[in-house]
Amino acid sequence: MTHCPSLCVSVCMYVSVSAQSAVLDSVLSTFRSICGEDNVSLGEAVREQHGKDESVHRCCPPDVVVFPHCVEEVSALAKVCHHHRFPIIPFGTGTGLEGGVGAVKGGVCFSLRNMDRVLDLHQEDFDVTVEPGVTRKALNAYLRDTGLWFPVDPGADASLCGMAATSASGTNAVRYGTMRENVINLEVVLADGTIIHTAGNGRRPRKTSAGYNLTNLFVGSEGTLGIITKTTLRLYGIPEAMVSAVCSFPSIQDAVDSTVQILQAGVPIARIEFLDDVMIDACNRFSGLSYPVTPTLFLEFHGSEQSLEEQVNTTEDITHSNRGSDFQWARDAETRNQLWKARHDAWYAALALRPGCKAYATDVCVPLSRLPQIIVETKEDLIENRLTGPIAGHVGDGNFHCLMVVDPNNAEELHRVHLFTDRLARRALAMDGTCTGEHGVGLGKRALLCEEMGPMAIQVMQGLKDALDPYNVMNPGKILQPREL
Ligand SMILES: *[C@@H]1O[C@H](CO)[C@@H](O)[C@H](O)[C@H]1NC(C)=O
Ligand SMILES: *[C@@H]1O[C@H](CO)[C@@H](O)[C@H](O)[C@H]1NC(C)=O
Ligand SMILES: *[C@@H]1O[C@H](CO)[C@@H](O)[C@H](O)[C@H]1NC(C)=O
Repeated sequence: MTHCPSLCVSVCMYVSVSAQSAVLDSVLSTFRSICGEDNVSLGEAVREQHGKDESVHRCCPPDVVVFPHCVEEVSALAKVCHHHRFPIIPFGTGTGLEGGVGAVKGGVCFSLRNMDRVLDLHQEDFDVTVEPGVTRKALNAYLRDTGLWFPVDPGADASLCGMAATSASGTNAVRYGTMRENVINLEVVLADGTIIHTAGNGRRPRKTSAGYNLTNLFVGSEGTLGIITKTTLRLYGIPEAMVSAVCSFPSIQDAVDSTVQILQAGVPIARIEFLDDVMIDACNRFSGLSYPVTPTLFLEFHGSEQSLEEQVNTTEDITHSNRGSDFQWARDAETRNQLWKARHDAWYAALALRPGCKAYATDVCVPLSRLPQIIVETKEDLIENRLTGPIAGHVGDGNFHCLMVVDPNNAEELHRVHLFTDRLARRALAMDGTCTGEHGVGLGKRALLCEEMGPMAIQVMQGLKDALDPYNVMNPGKILQPREL
């Protein structure tokens, strides 16, 4: 029976280097005949670039990187890998945060950037299908003149199929949902090269009750079940108008109480972001602003002119009743951007707290009512352990990040950060939450996933993995822990 072993250190585990290099020799010529000589790279710089994401997990370069152009090539490549039991790691933009693309067992990275077409836009149905090289900004640029947009915004200009693979979200999720709510269909190449459409080929109904939800199975599978080669997404009308506002509070409780009451009042708020006092202080210094150094909410409202007035009025009533300051607010794009500048620059502001250090964003999510308690306890933990970790949160979803600023050359400090992030995740689990709201499990949170799900649910996940990928070729070592033999 599966149990939850303690966290093993994430290192590149080249078990049998010589066996693998013999395999490499025999697959390379086939790879070249499939994608063309120029689209198979053994260069060290290219491999390094594809062996890491934006996390602090160390780089694990693949043995080779291929750049396929179409699903047929992806399928043919997968067949070869399956036959030789050669690991496959799908790669979008490398903007992940949990070490999901590291080739911990070597193998081949499928860089999907050459597959970058927007296909099948159905304006009247509010949906579009994209290939895996299309990023969210590229899609929104493509949609510019249609009056439509795709709102899920994790910050980075990530690829949409990569966002589906990690079940990404971001600041807009409170209004528009995460990737989970916005993917209608996926084309997936399985480990053995089989091509499937999770909701049926070409289908894009707004709702369905037809069978198991395979689409949802692949959303958040982080490349461990197959390679996503197309995603069909829901689109939204660009709102007629937007208003942004900023409001300061004497306590975290007041800010979160306001959030809960705003949602309870049915205000269709588009974004509601929390910054703690440390974060605001950092933003003030970095961006030359003068916000009061107290817990602060950044808000954004979308709708018609009339509905905006109502939304803003209701919200301001609520924040006032929770001791919030008067709103600073803005309508036109330029002033809105100025107002939100602090929020947008949070990452760089955090980094500037300790020049020369690296930032690492943790991510947990709890039921809304538990948010004040977990944030207060987490801040105490940070102080006790002498760590720098300003807090920024998608407070409408109960999801928040500590932006850990660490000296990458200080092993002792890295260790303290590691222990802290484990404590934070366990605190979230103890409050009925999850160890990751939007970054995924990758390498760093496998033991925590096991604690979160319990051994029986993990066993079911392992069973699904075994059924779809019997030789553990697809992104091995991620999400599920290697089994003890
Ligand atoms: C590699 O891909 C490019 C397109 O990205 C293509 O033009 C070229 O023909 C491919 N190389 C070979 C040798 O097939
Ligand atoms: C199936 O999963 C997808 C992706 O998470 C989701 O968008 C869709 O609404 C789900 N379908 C049903 C019927 O629940
Ligand atoms: C919002 O408040 C302003 C002033 O407080 C008032 O003039 C306006 O009528 C209110 N709008 C709505 C839609 O309630």
